[in-house]
Amino acid sequence: MSPTPWSPRSWRDRPLTQSPTWPDLAHLERVEAELAAKPPLVFAGEARRLASQLGAAAEGRAFLLQAGDCAESFHEGSADFIRDKLKVILQMAVALTYASGVPTVKVGRIAGQFAKPRSTPTEERDGVTLDAFRGHIVNSEEFTPEARRPDPDRLLAAYHQSVATLNLLRAFTTGGFAALSRVHAWNQQFVAQSPEGKRYEVLADDIDRALNFMRACGVDLDDDHSLSSVDFYTSHEALILPYEQALTRQDSLTGDWYDCSAHMLWIGDRTRDLDGAHVEFARGIKNPLGLKVGPSTTPDQLARLIETLNPQNVPGRLTLISRMGRDRVLDHLPSLIERVSQEGASVVWACDPMHGNTFKAVGGQKTRSFDDVLTEVAQFFSVHQSLGTWPGGLHVELTGDNVTECLGGGDQLNESDLELNYTSICDPRLNGSQSLDMAFHVSELLQSAVGTRTRSL
Ligand code: TRP
Ligand code: MN
Repeated sequence: MSPTPWSPRSWRDRPLTQSPTWPDLAHLERVEAELAAKPPLVFAGEARRLASQLGAAAEGRAFLLQAGDCAESFHEGSADFIRDKLKVILQMAVALTYASGVPTVKVGRIAGQFAKPRSTPTEERDGVTLDAFRGHIVNSEEFTPEARRPDPDRLLAAYHQSVATLNLLRAFTTGGFAALSRVHAWNQQFVAQSPEGKRYEVLADDIDRALNFMRACGVDLDDDHSLSSVDFYTSHEALILPYEQALTRQDSLTGDWYDCSAHMLWIGDRTRDLDGAHVEFARGIKNPLGLKVGPSTTPDQLARLIETLNPQNVPGRLTLISRMGRDRVLDHLPSLIERVSQEGASVVWACDPMHGNTFKAVGGQKTRSFDDVLTEVAQFFSVHQSLGTWPGGLHVELTGDNVTECLGGGDQLNESDLELNYTSICDPRLNGSQSLDMAFHVSELLQSAVGTRTRSL
């Protein structure tokens, strides 16, 4: 069956789920036209470079670290928030790379991660029903009719915050801040005091020593681009399709279409319907794609989605992000991996240990236990180990801030601590020291995966 023709707007002929009900469609159209005339945030060549690095992760030669907020907030767009998030991600990346000897591909859930799918379109409190909060690109979290009304101008605000965020990220990652010689400087005060922070200091000392050794041998480290900068990419869920379409541009070099709102886009577990609008949109853009794979995914569904999203079987085009929940990995993941292998499909297998492990604390906050998260990661690695496939990545929700949103971890946060500093507007995030703790655990798992890597390449 030959696929129907694709265009940046062909998704409009498909069933669209998880879309806000915009009260004023003419207003939305004006905003779409305005966005379509704006400069792209990223360039096709950068997306191709990420695709090739992910290709290495698909083939067991690299590891993907994808991390950032559940939902970015219009209240947290300051330089300090961005810098601190980047610091944690760099710390995690350096721990993973140093332990495993495998390059870490660094992708943020950042500079565009503003939209949230919801389990119900409305929210009821004390007999009042309003639109659900769908992320700052759509509406606002306060429970008032004005705040919850979807406002197309928010698409423009999201674009501008993304521009500013990405501009700062580019400066930080290429302007010296991310240089390996500054490895100590990424350890924030509150993290440095934790056990993980101390373990990090030891690792940073090791790296310093290695760099000094090379310097003493005559290598000019200051001149070495690969030591002084990092490739850092952006990603978000491609949920609000009018926004994504408006930023989709044809590459003058190849004639291919790229969604220039981010380097990588993913399809959520709630919108991965084969005939739906989100899959239709994603199949036609050339960016690397993520696909969230939850416990209700069947091997047949997955095979058809792969055929649709990566018909040429290009390594690095597709990352499958498994999000099962700690008690479901062993039941659900093996048959999916086996099917993908039988099909001969090249994918990056990444683990999202966050989304299947959310529950409500006694105080009513959404939370996750660090131990559950860690258990899911460990099971993900062990399933890959027994099937001889490569555990290619980790996808986590974190912030550089000292928040108290997830339970456990080095600081042993308990349910009463959740009140101390819970600032997420959506799902609970790992804080700085929990993130680092996670990176150390994953480094050990990765190290042993490297040791037993079956090179079926
Ligand atoms: N450029 C290399 C890389 O991205 C080495 C590197 C420089 C690095 N700064 C880093 C690695 C910070 C991790 C974190 O892998
Ligand atoms: Mn989330």
